[in-house]
Amino acid sequence: MPETASPAGASASQEAEISAALGTRSVVLVGMMGAGKSTIGRRLSARLRLPFLDADMEIEAAAGMSIPDIFETHGEPHFRDGEARVIARLLDSGPAVIATGGGAFMREETRSRIGSRAVSIWLKADADVIMKRVKRRADRPLLQTADPAATVGRLIEEREPVYQRADITIWSRDVPHEKIVDECIDALHAWLCHNGAETSNTMGATQ
Ligand code: S3P
Repeated sequence: MPETASPAGASASQEAEISAALGTRSVVLVGMMGAGKSTIGRRLSARLRLPFLDADMEIEAAAGMSIPDIFETHGEPHFRDGEARVIARLLDSGPAVIATGGGAFMREETRSRIGSRAVSIWLKADADVIMKRVKRRADRPLLQTADPAATVGRLIEEREPVYQRADITIWSRDVPHEKIVDECIDALHAWLCHNGAETSNTMGATQ
């Protein structure tokens, strides 16, 4: 990179290098409900000039019904089977930026598909941030419990050991979205273009 390159030029070339290195692979965002997978994913896709795919929306379109209705009518196991099928299809249509539902990465089959067809980013958020965000919407069947905060705590405990198998970890916190997107771009660049397997990719932990 010439020293005279402007920051904007440097960033644009970083993004182009990421796209080239991805080839047909996608970028998949994993993590808890309310971690910002759709919000960050949409912005990240614009920066990388890739389509944005929201797995939850694709599941609803394929089923012709909302996620709460799928849970109520057919139960969670049926939802999980559909979720795995939809994500497999989305991965085959890459490259794209794909936001997955919070439980998707827990399934071994889906994790292994993501491992071979994508680079995964865990958007890690703490319980307070998650609770603040999920309170805004009542459409998450798993949180229709007497004590949603306790449910979130239990899910975090169960899921974090699995989420941490993602290639990259980014702390999702209350800072401007573009800052989180910048951190995703930097980490993707390190991972894809500088032999990131050697790099510890947890970013944003101390800001
Ligand atoms: C779920 C998360 C939801 C949705 C479904 C189940 C989960 O997606 O897939 O309600 O198991 O955590 P978001 O993570 O996009 O809210």
